[in-house]
Amino acid sequence: MTRKIAVLPGDGIGTEIVAEALKVLDCLRQDFGLAVETEEALIGGAAYDAKGTPFPEETLSLCQAADAVLLGAVGGPKWESLDYSVRPERGLLGLRSELELFANLRPAILYPQLVGASTLKPEVVSGLDILIIRELTGGIYFGQPRGRRINEKGQREGYNTLVYSESEIRRIGHIAFQTAQKRNRRVCSVDKANVLECTELWREVMIEVSKDYPDVALSHMYVDNAAMQLVRAPKQFDVMVTENMFGDILSDCAAMLTGSIGMLPSASLDQNGKGMYEPIHGSAPDIAGKGIANPIATILSVAMLLRYSFDDAASAERIERAVVAALDAGLRTTDIYSEGTRKVDTAEMGDAIVSALRASNS
Ligand code: IPM
Ligand code: MG
Repeated sequence: MTRKIAVLPGDGIGTEIVAEALKVLDCLRQDFGLAVETEEALIGGAAYDAKGTPFPEETLSLCQAADAVLLGAVGGPKWESLDYSVRPERGLLGLRSELELFANLRPAILYPQLVGASTLKPEVVSGLDILIIRELTGGIYFGQPRGRRINEKGQREGYNTLVYSESEIRRIGHIAFQTAQKRNRRVCSVDKANVLECTELWREVMIEVSKDYPDVALSHMYVDNAAMQLVRAPKQFDVMVTENMFGDILSDCAAMLTGSIGMLPSASLDQNGKGMYEPIHGSAPDIAGKGIANPIATILSVAMLLRYSFDDAASAERIERAVVAALDAGLRTTDIYSEGTRKVDTAEMGDAIVSALRASNS
């Protein structure tokens, strides 16, 4: 059975890094007999330019019909003055919401080769392996009412709503505990229960869900402290679970522990394990078009895709080993470069990973 991957390169460096990920998939197809086909569609600013909407109907249908989705990145200064309803980000948020991809898994793993690339001391980060689970289809990103208005004093006012139902909290809670069972059996739930009622409920429901998982230790942390602990002593964490916006912020923070945000893949899953896979970084307009972006986060997202959506751990590990081989060979894109290593561009990094992959087939 040939499975289908919808490929949405998006904007900025999205197209450059997805091109490298496709080389990896091609290699798996040709050299390892992986039965996948890919089909591309537009999303974000690219879709807005071509079709007047960041989230065309045909992109949604392609993603619905596909077995998994691989996405690059969306957004850029070119579209920043557009109305919110047609901003590139709406394409990505629309997709997450339409496909009900509520569980966003963002692993932050420090490769030993990159210890020197992190801005933190080696002893603080070496051996780091944490997983941030971000609720992705609720919270303040989607809560109603939202908007802008003129208040009674005649001033402009902006407002958003942080809202979670208990079932939304419960289902992400189950994902967190089940994932922790396959790791080190520790879940830290991050909230702001001292101030926000919504996250007070979050904490309550997490405690209820934890009763089903006596083998997993649950702890709670306020989000401000969690941000501090992530840079103070990140290895104390195993699985962190949190609401949409806190997860957005904490995962960028965690990314820097690993040397570069260019290293972090992610999986966004629905209730049945169907998923969209994307690097956690954005479209990086400042370096777009220069061919210097790090394709590793996207290539590792392909590994996550094979593992989670196609249940193909062997191919996933093969990709992960090829990435390690390229790093072992001393190759570094600008973002992870340090003295004594060799600076390469996006395509050179992709090619090196493909060569390592190919070489593993003997
Ligand atoms: C992310 C990004 C997105 C988000 C943007 C591009 C809408 O920052 O995936 O972390 O805020 O979720
Ligand atoms: Mg983000």
